[in-house]
Amino acid sequence: MHIAMVGSGYVGLVSGACLADFGHNVTCIDSDVRKIDSLKAGKMPIYEPGLAELVGNNVRHKRLSFTTDLIGTVGKADAVFIAVGTPSRRGDGHADLSYVYQAARDIAAGLDGFTVVVTKSTVPVGTGDEVERIIREARPDAEFAVVSNPEFLREGAAIDDFKRPDRIVLGVENERAKEVMTEVYRPLYLNRAPFVFTSRRTSELTKYAANAFLATKITFINEIADLCERVGADVQDVARGIGLDNRIGSKFLHAGPGYGGSCFPKDTQALIKTAQDYDSPIRIVEMVAAVNDQRKRAMARKVFAALGGSVRGKTIAVLGLTFKPNTDDMRDSPAISIITALQDGGAKVNVFDPEGMDQARLVLEDLTYFYDPYSCCDAADALVIITEWDEFRALDLERVKSLLTAPIMIDLRNIYDPAEMERKQFRYSDVGRGA
Ligand code: UGA
Repeated sequence: MHIAMVGSGYVGLVSGACLADFGHNVTCIDSDVRKIDSLKAGKMPIYEPGLAELVGNNVRHKRLSFTTDLIGTVGKADAVFIAVGTPSRRGDGHADLSYVYQAARDIAAGLDGFTVVVTKSTVPVGTGDEVERIIREARPDAEFAVVSNPEFLREGAAIDDFKRPDRIVLGVENERAKEVMTEVYRPLYLNRAPFVFTSRRTSELTKYAANAFLATKITFINEIADLCERVGADVQDVARGIGLDNRIGSKFLHAGPGYGGSCFPKDTQALIKTAQDYDSPIRIVEMVAAVNDQRKRAMARKVFAALGGSVRGKTIAVLGLTFKPNTDDMRDSPAISIITALQDGGAKVNVFDPEGMDQARLVLEDLTYFYDPYSCCDAADALVIITEWDEFRALDLERVKSLLTAPIMIDLRNIYDPAEMERKQFRYSDVGRGA
């Protein structure tokens, strides 16, 4: 089966490489010549564990290739995936669909023979209808069907999520297209992964509902963590105590500095806007987005408190900048708001992150960068852990203590044990464990 992937960003590249690994002949397309050239040279534009090996292997087996030639590639394809970005539109929070619609126009020009056009980008309800209209208008003669197939992969675990999905959602209203999609996902079908076949609009909404629900779960436990601090309870035990109830589930109940990344903030905003447009506001998600925004900056207050109320003239060492570990992605990372608040309070900020420092330079100013955790701590007045990279879980605490001017640690991901930190004579604060 020939598959064309329009857009070689995060989702396009991971999906393209995994579909090639399933045995399909996949061509990833991008209009960015430099990106395509560097992919051809084996250089990945993003950091994702296992991706370079997976791409390299499939390129060697001639199942995966890269091009800027959209029209020629689409003409040969049985299925064309649209995996371009849908960023928040400046000003109103709606998803910006201009890349999706441009892709639809370009695809229309290349269609040859029955082709399934699959929207993988996260798109608001009704986008599939518009994609279909655009293609039909440009090519009244073409034989095609438009399908919605949202992606649920997480950065840092993307390959595993693609190959071992909890479910595959397919909004497909045409029998022939259903057969093509079953063939695309044949190995997963044979492995009995759950398939949800539904209408196109339902599939589009399912993606937003999933992300909004997960964002709500995180925000819920974050607010319970705040209450735990007031009443002297332990949020991790609360999370375990409720998560063992199968109806609740134990995942996405880690309290922390608030969610970030390229999906939850953007997708909750887009869902809020769609719901308002249809006069059916989802107030719970409106509240979640507002609470999460406030939370990120509020985390700086923990640092102020640990330093006796003010950080003016102090040096703060920050470990972890990305919105979560195993990525170089800084988009909407809580670190941005926290560090800005510390700087506004008059602090000088030292930072170290294993992968995120290049991206951080684009969004934060006046930081001092270090290339290991210990030099970052040297002569700093407190240590703040913002992202739970594995290498921060096993720091040499005696060494850290000897480097800091005072043994103060603010652990915003709860990766250390408060009892042990007390034994080691740290002045330790965390999120919702009474420390
Ligand atoms: C998220 C979803 O998990 C994926 O299923 C979805 O496909 C993806 O968005 C998308 O729409 O493309 P991702 O943004 O990569 O994936 O990252 P997550 O692992 O979900 O983490 C998001 C944020 O929530 C991070 O800032 C993380 O630190 C935070 N988080 C997560 C918590 O604070 N607590 C938790 O218990 C879990």
